[in-house]
Amino acid sequence: MIAPVLGTPDAKDIHSFAQPQVARVTHVALDLAADFKAKRIGGTATLDIQAAPGAREVVLDNKGLAIARVTDQQGQDLPYTEGDADPVLGSPLTVSLNGAKRIVITYQSAPEAAALQWLSPEQTAGKKYPFLFSQGQAILNRTWIPTQDSPGIRQTWEARIVVPQPLRAVMSGEDLTPKGEEAKGGRAYRFRMNQPVAPYLIAIAVGDLAFRDLGPRSGVYAEPATIDAAAREFGDTERMITAAEELYGPYRWGRYDMIVLPPSFPFGGMENPRLTFLTPTLLAGDKSLVDTVAHELAHSWSGNLVTNATWSDFWLNEGFTTYFTSRIMEKLYGKEATDRQIALGWDDLQSTMKDEGGPASPKTVLHINLEGVDPDEGMTDIAYEKGAALLRTLEQAVGRERWDAYLRSYFDRHAFQPMTAQLFLADLRKNLLKGDVALEQKLRLDDWVYKPGIPANVAPPPAQAFAAVDQATKAYAAGGAVSAVPFANWSTSERLRFINALPRKLPAERLAELDRSFRLSASTNSEVLFAWLKLAIENRYDPAVPALERFLGSMGRRKFVAPLFDALVAQGEWGRPIATRIYGKTRPLYHSVTSGTVDKALAKT
Ligand code: BES
Ligand code: ZN
Repeated sequence: MIAPVLGTPDAKDIHSFAQPQVARVTHVALDLAADFKAKRIGGTATLDIQAAPGAREVVLDNKGLAIARVTDQQGQDLPYTEGDADPVLGSPLTVSLNGAKRIVITYQSAPEAAALQWLSPEQTAGKKYPFLFSQGQAILNRTWIPTQDSPGIRQTWEARIVVPQPLRAVMSGEDLTPKGEEAKGGRAYRFRMNQPVAPYLIAIAVGDLAFRDLGPRSGVYAEPATIDAAAREFGDTERMITAAEELYGPYRWGRYDMIVLPPSFPFGGMENPRLTFLTPTLLAGDKSLVDTVAHELAHSWSGNLVTNATWSDFWLNEGFTTYFTSRIMEKLYGKEATDRQIALGWDDLQSTMKDEGGPASPKTVLHINLEGVDPDEGMTDIAYEKGAALLRTLEQAVGRERWDAYLRSYFDRHAFQPMTAQLFLADLRKNLLKGDVALEQKLRLDDWVYKPGIPANVAPPPAQAFAAVDQATKAYAAGGAVSAVPFANWSTSERLRFINALPRKLPAERLAELDRSFRLSASTNSEVLFAWLKLAIENRYDPAVPALERFLGSMGRRKFVAPLFDALVAQGEWGRPIATRIYGKTRPLYHSVTSGTVDKALAKT
């Protein structure tokens, strides 16, 4: 199956050098070996090329790869050039085709390849073996795979990966050799993905891995030290898949497995097809953070099946997924719990609106202009929460039944294809609005997608979700006793709402009694601990610094790490020295995605 590439101007990807209308990659075959000593992965990438009549060359994306040679299938050298390097995009690798339909690139990744993190044994849970994982989104895979690294150019792929014994390789495709095969220099693992995917979704992890079945088509990988906790935490996965299918149609990827990575994994989760990557900070012990699994699973439709053609329409991936997640959560855990999560999302939308410059700021537009911007910096929670708010607004306007039927048909119509905002709006008008002028006027779709701020017709968030919590918070803020706060009885969402709604300035005694009563500094729930530490920093509360230091040294999830360093830096002469001291120790633990963001925060004066 060869997926089309859109030729319209709104589908042009400014973050790739590829010229897919001239020549495009349709299939990638990797034959690579991982060298943990040199921190390089290398070998050959064989690319199938579909070229327009008369096309003489193909342009690929490359960032820091050491290219040894490029040949055709017969081993004849093909001339190639590497263009000037852009600090964000890398450089174009232009190969003369000389009529070839298949080209072979012999190469190695650089030790500092941004997609890859090579972990020493000390950085793993087991402390015995090294570990390697990749993170492709948004434009990082060009640091280890020489292909057209654009989400609108879908490619099938296969891979053979040689790793040292006793490590195991897993990838975001069908696992052809679960036990591996004998190979020179270690064991070889083979994979294949026969459905065309956006290249940012090719992912690998190599380590000392155990596996547990969770259901007939789901399971979890983790280091042996973590596997029991992981299997317990994610025990609802099979039910989530079924719930998602009931909502929006069949799960089309065969198996749904997950891997819990070592703590430096920079995201909560990453929706790599057939193999979601997860942070161990989700292992709260009580399933209270499994909405992230529902979120990554939902991407199997919104994102992996129907994919943003460019990073300007990242909201089509994340906004749809945030909405879809709440629908899965509602089916599994009920409306009340889900309403609380939607309400927290709404709070996040309000604070992100402020942080991004307010309702007139261009950064609050859904279809964002990323000209000259590293997509990694330009992609914010606006895409998630404003996007989800639009979908809730659509649901409310036409009713759940009609909306669900539409959304299901949208995934069917566009399965395995790229999507743009413009194309989505056209599809919506054709298949949902169907010329209803009153509905069109009521919805203000173009304002939602192309203008900043939140249109006034937004579906209101659930109003009563936190009534009891807010009452208790108010009483406490007015000087009430800490013993009157029923923190122990609350869910994680309620605890988060409480901490985040507390007055931002509190006297040290009040902070001490909160910490003592609710054991906040010792919380094993990463979200609760994070919310508490932020409050503590804002109050220059010294007794929380050891817990802060422990947390920042224990994981590398950017969503936690970057805001905590930001908060420290904002506390000037109190916070900056603490930030510098801690970062000096923890920086080597982090993936480039996280250290890149924190480096920038600390460079600000
Ligand atoms: N695809 C994203 C992660 C991502 C976004 C990677 C942008 C690179 C660039 C993933 O699905 C995601 O949104 N993860 C969230 C969890 C979610 C529950 C909001 C995260 O990592 O926190
Ligand atoms: Zn997501």
